[in-house]
Amino acid sequence: MSFDRQAHKERIKWFEEARLGMFIHWGLYSIPAKGEWCKSTLKISDAQYQQYFEEFNPANYNPLFWAHMAKEAGMRYAVLTAKHHDGFCLFDSELTDYKATNTPAGQDLVRAYADAFRRVGLKVGLYYSLIDWHHPHFPHYGDRHHPCRDNEDYKGYKYDFDKYLEYMHGQVRELCINYGKLDILWFDFSYDDMKGEKWRAAELVDMVRSLQPDVLIDSRLEPSDENSLLTETPNSYAGDFVNPEQLIPPNGIFDSAGNPVPWEACITMNEHWGYCANDQFYKPSSMIIKKLVECVSKGGNLLLNVGPDARGNLPMQSVRILKDLEYWMKANSASIYGCGPGAGCGPGAGCGPGASGIEKPDYGRVTRNGRKVYFHVMENTVGPLPLTGLKREEIEKVRLLADGSELTIVDDWRTDIYKDAVFLHLSDNPDLPDKVDTVVEVTLKG
Ligand code: GLC
Repeated sequence: MSFDRQAHKERIKWFEEARLGMFIHWGLYSIPAKGEWCKSTLKISDAQYQQYFEEFNPANYNPLFWAHMAKEAGMRYAVLTAKHHDGFCLFDSELTDYKATNTPAGQDLVRAYADAFRRVGLKVGLYYSLIDWHHPHFPHYGDRHHPCRDNEDYKGYKYDFDKYLEYMHGQVRELCINYGKLDILWFDFSYDDMKGEKWRAAELVDMVRSLQPDVLIDSRLEPSDENSLLTETPNSYAGDFVNPEQLIPPNGIFDSAGNPVPWEACITMNEHWGYCANDQFYKPSSMIIKKLVECVSKGGNLLLNVGPDARGNLPMQSVRILKDLEYWMKANSASIYGCGPGAGCGPGAGCGPGASGIEKPDYGRVTRNGRKVYFHVMENTVGPLPLTGLKREEIEKVRLLADGSELTIVDDWRTDIYKDAVFLHLSDNPDLPDKVDTVVEVTLKG
């Protein structure tokens, strides 16, 4: 099957409206608590890593609580690691014994997650690692990342990579068949020659699309610097959205013809994806709210990560951040859902970089949903606040988004000389009504 642009446009719609999701990295690595890469970075052998398998017993696992936290914070979808690079499966795969049901956890953790998140009305996504540091037929010695990459014992070892591919395709089939309607499949990741057809990606994606016709697929079956979604002729396995990691693209993302490409920045709250007990470098909630707005103002989504601990708890700092997001979103989510850049390249609008429209103001950012333009004021101005890029005759009304109160346009000796600009009186108080981001809602005339 080739890449079908029309079908892509249809299935991506909900995603571009949703704008905010929860990433969940959880697995055996929550016990050593040094992040999900610890097996590789510390070169831990299977034998040493086995203790975590025997011990894994997240008695406090309550996916309904996670789902409520996500929902209240304004998230519209979630993505859980069904299998990460260490090869451990949170789901009850028939193709391996290396799974949660065989640990003291004793249950299919993916099923419980999918049921809970669906129950509160969130879309359900699964992350699946293409890489596998447990499977005997995944390259060990000489691989760039494998925990045994330097272990001479594996030097002459004969792999049958096809056996791994059979396993990997088989597990993806299980995920597609056994867990109801999936909204996202998030494959991770390609590197060196481990990419595209090495994964038998065309066949894999054909299978996925035949079993889950509406599912969105990320773009990591290809390496990020070879992403064919950014070209005019994407591969069938190019995926549906680009997924930059730990970075927000400076100007949004466009293909070589200048059309906006759907994207989702995945970002950690602290410095790790998987639970890391010593990592207290949490971003302040205010920063996370502003980064969400930044993503939307550039036409993208934010996939914000939590790394539950070995008992199944969300870290307390993450809960606090989610709560702060909740308060802000409760008042201001209209400036997020269904919104895109101020330039008017909202979901699917099709305008390139440099399109005319509303530029980013000095004091913050702009998001837009059709006739509604949202000025995000993150730093107060001295005196009247300019509504950059708008003409007075275009404006129907201006309101404070949080409470619907009327805001008046200022026309006096201070603004007189700026004939082409529109100014607003926000408040006499130098402190903004919402110190993080006060949102001004401008309705344009129809
Ligand atoms: C990476 C990492 C991984 C993490 C992911 C999230 O590629 O390997 O640990 O799951 O990206 O984007």
